[in-house]
Amino acid sequence: MNTQWSPASWREKPVQQMPDYADKESLAEVEQLLSTFPPLVFAGEARKLKAALAQVASGHGFLLQGGDCAESFAEHHADGIRDFFRVFLQMAVVLTYAAASPVVKVGRIAGQFAKPRSAAFETQGELALPSYRGDIVNDIAFDAASREPDPRRMVMAYRQAAATLNLLRAFAQGGYANLDHVHQWTLGFVKGSPQSSRYQVIADRITETLAFMRACGIDPDSTSQLRSTDLFTSHEALLLGYEQALTRIDSTSGEYYATSGHMLWIGDRTRQLDHAHIEFARGVKNPIGLKCGPSLDPEDLIRLIDILNPANEPGRLTLISRFGADKVFDHLPQLIRAVEREGRKVLWSCDPMHGNTVKANSGFKTRPFDRVLAEVENFFAVHRAEGTHAGGIHIEMTGSNVTECTGGAKAISDDDLSARYHTHCDPRLNADQALELAFLIAENLKRERDTHPERHVAAQ
Ligand code: TRP
Ligand code: MN
Repeated sequence: MNTQWSPASWREKPVQQMPDYADKESLAEVEQLLSTFPPLVFAGEARKLKAALAQVASGHGFLLQGGDCAESFAEHHADGIRDFFRVFLQMAVVLTYAAASPVVKVGRIAGQFAKPRSAAFETQGELALPSYRGDIVNDIAFDAASREPDPRRMVMAYRQAAATLNLLRAFAQGGYANLDHVHQWTLGFVKGSPQSSRYQVIADRITETLAFMRACGIDPDSTSQLRSTDLFTSHEALLLGYEQALTRIDSTSGEYYATSGHMLWIGDRTRQLDHAHIEFARGVKNPIGLKCGPSLDPEDLIRLIDILNPANEPGRLTLISRFGADKVFDHLPQLIRAVEREGRKVLWSCDPMHGNTVKANSGFKTRPFDRVLAEVENFFAVHRAEGTHAGGIHIEMTGSNVTECTGGAKAISDDDLSARYHTHCDPRLNADQALELAFLIAENLKRERDTHPERHVAAQ
């Protein structure tokens, strides 16, 4: 294998899932322009995230990663970002409280614009047009002009990511995430739901604890950890021209970092050992995620780890399994055993969404919520049996009151799907379902805490 890496070395490799731009000149111009823009994230932040993930990989804490399947240009509103953020905070509170250990918060946001597709073309009636590949590539409307990949969309995506990140930073650091506000994060439509009353119980305890601590002289004014949080960003590193243009040498370490987001992941469809996406990812120093589906065999996983994390640095690599609820026991144990046998340091996370997509009778693509929960339960069960740490969750979710996944405490049925089905791509958990999932994870973390108390002393 050619060991010479550069931000452009992926161009020498076979590549999948990349759009076919007709106007190569315009593409080159846009990529050149992007390479002159400021970085969206700072390398020091990516290192901070890596250190936090390293703690989780060694058994301390939990990774909470989630957000839209695909962000869209049309839905770029402060309310949507805020609603996502507050459900995310609620989930984080529930998990932090249950595990009594840190929760690393990583949004699938501020850059999650590009989508892999199962077919290059979509046919409706007589007409075949290029598939929709996310707003960073083309428009979802089914007409020839909209579906033509347009390089200028990369600039729009960059600017939207910058604005989203700006608001998230303000929320995370500017007071919104203050634990004194733990009661205020409940969304209107979730009030009165079973999840809401369960949440109130925890919020009450936290408020009580804060009152006690305040009496002892520790409060959010004096202690920044109580009034702010770190929210990191992540997306699938699919559109490599865009990623390359935002890859920069960090002046403090002299190493390359992707500055489009803190963490990048490689999808299950683009993880071929000798292909472009793996080539790109191996050279940037950010934390990297690797989606692991049913077709990944243990030997190939070890080869991928050799390429992506040759120094066996903890925090560098997060393996995100996505098998489908009924296939977890067939695949996950072998992967875990191979990794343990080879002594590789990884963080194991579970994506319970992508292996559980079905077509409802109504024609909508959906995900039965009980299968999402079952994949998570099975993930925890396998890790318990193997003696390894179930370290994280990766979900598609929104703070809006959508009806995209069936089931949950509010029992969304097939017939309800059409009411508020807004996703640009895959069906997402709504706020209520996301919180219900957090409670299920919390129970599993509590169980792990009882069996492995040494893992749950808060990391320093
Ligand atoms: N800074 C800590 C953390 O991020 C505590 C904290 C502050 C927190 N605000 C929060 C935890 C909101 C969860 C949600 O973990
Ligand atoms: Mn998706």
